[in-house]
Amino acid sequence: MTGHIASLWVYPVKGARGVPLDEADVLPGTGLRHDRSLAIARGDQQVPPRTAWRPRSAFKQVARDPDMTQVTVTMAGSGVVELRHLAHPDGPPVRSDRPSEDLLGAWFGEPGLRLVRGDGAALWDLPDTELSLVNLATVRALAADLDFRRFRANVHLDGLPAFAELAWVGRRVRLGDCEVEVTRHTGRCRATSANLVTGERDIELPSVLTRAFGHPNLGVYARLAAPRPARLRKGAPVTVGDPPETVRHADASWPREAEVLETVREDDRTVSLWLRDPFRLPVAAGQHLRVHLPTSDGGLTWRAYSVSGRLRITVRLRGEVSNRLASLVSGDRLLITGPFGLPALSPERRPLYLVSAGIGITPVAATVRQLAAEAAPRPLAVEETVGEAVPRPLTVLHVDADERSAALWSEVADGVRRTGGTARLFETRPAARRPGPRDLVELMPDGADTLVCGSIGFVTAVSEALRAAGVDADRIHADAFFSPATEPPVRRPAPDPGPHQVTYLPEDVAATWTDADGTLLELAENHQVPVPSACRSGACGTCVLDLVHGEVSYLVDPPIPPGSRAVLACAAVPAGPIVLRRRAAATPAEEPQ
Ligand code: FES
Repeated sequence: MTGHIASLWVYPVKGARGVPLDEADVLPGTGLRHDRSLAIARGDQQVPPRTAWRPRSAFKQVARDPDMTQVTVTMAGSGVVELRHLAHPDGPPVRSDRPSEDLLGAWFGEPGLRLVRGDGAALWDLPDTELSLVNLATVRALAADLDFRRFRANVHLDGLPAFAELAWVGRRVRLGDCEVEVTRHTGRCRATSANLVTGERDIELPSVLTRAFGHPNLGVYARLAAPRPARLRKGAPVTVGDPPETVRHADASWPREAEVLETVREDDRTVSLWLRDPFRLPVAAGQHLRVHLPTSDGGLTWRAYSVSGRLRITVRLRGEVSNRLASLVSGDRLLITGPFGLPALSPERRPLYLVSAGIGITPVAATVRQLAAEAAPRPLAVEETVGEAVPRPLTVLHVDADERSAALWSEVADGVRRTGGTARLFETRPAARRPGPRDLVELMPDGADTLVCGSIGFVTAVSEALRAAGVDADRIHADAFFSPATEPPVRRPAPDPGPHQVTYLPEDVAATWTDADGTLLELAENHQVPVPSACRSGACGTCVLDLVHGEVSYLVDPPIPPGSRAVLACAAVPAGPIVLRRRAAATPAEEPQ
């Protein structure tokens, strides 16, 4: 796979426009000479002490201040940088060797701004970063007329297939004489939503990306493969190395190529794929994977599938994507992201009541496999105390046309029996009807956690029936199918513009929110608080946080509302001071393959 370096850019002032170069030195631990070496800090913000990395929230930033795109930069020689503002073309520049705070204040109508230096360390948003690479074919696949400068990459590559870089994490890439190691994907934030011509936010680019590609990444970060300076040149050829044995750091939201181990026909309309994830991330019952497939018009389409085992997805054949998945054979590669969503099993060992319909049985199958693995006899260490196993009563109610058409039912029923639980198939043929409150309550164990899985219509109807039967809403967990939305959800304006204090736990990061910050997910991203996200439209539940204190308002109504003390961060804003806590993911027991 070869391509070439189409252009090189350096960004001496964080958030301001870049400077094109024909060639540039890359320095170990820093990146391009002068890159992100300066930033504009607010008077009321504490600039952290000298470190190799400083959080973005310490500086004026495009994500929050889109007018930063109107600041142009020229290199005046001897390392001196001159800044100008497009709205003040005839005024004097701000020079890095004698910066004028008054001039900066006048440009932005904001007193107390000052130019600060990185003291030899580049002011990247993330640690462990030296270069940012973007594949121009991927930008064109997103939108033919999109200005690639929104992504503020150092190295723009061309001549490669669109999306080639999605499988690069952990690989070495040779850029002419310079060899780099790709360390991570570039998850895009609101900074890319600013139009460079107008200086205003004209699209919500992270949402556009997620809708189009099924993930919010565009481009990759890299660092020098060897700790010695190297030179980059425009036009240099690009060569990509082999995949590594292991990846040092991995994140569920990063695309990578899974290997298909086996394809199993469950029945004439259902297929299971067993996969090997090169990142080897833990996955729990109740979570889902996304698969991303190239389209005939050069784009990428995606679907979300609940895992039905580790690592298995089970697909109902009903369209082009599912039929293409069914045609995969052992050894084929499949682009995936995830796992996303919360585990179905809470750490409390309360009774569990699983209700599913049709192919909604997949998370139930994964849950039963996980519980059966926990219940399986295992060798005891000599010092391990032998005592009574803690029982976890399990009851499963599955709704399907009949037993013959209920994919995975025999596996589920067998697994439930092995845990000592109860499994019932509710057959709707010939009298097609859903279970009513009486059917549901009849089987429900006292004080059970309930997991409802199926289409949004089924999940909504069953959740309402359970609530009507007196079940506490916080004990009802939902897992509904969702697929790419063709239109972005329309956000209502925030009812209260703030400011409000938002505290994210367990990091204990306090941030001040105003309506310029967008949703609670976008505020978290601007403060480098790790909140997982997938759909960014309130549909999938991946970004759920516990509401420890305060109230929120929704800008987009989630199809399935979370519990009363839970918040979908991608769709909500604070209605006053709030405290949020990220939930810990459970580590599931190993299940037999
Ligand atoms: S990311 Fe899907 S609900 Fe928020």
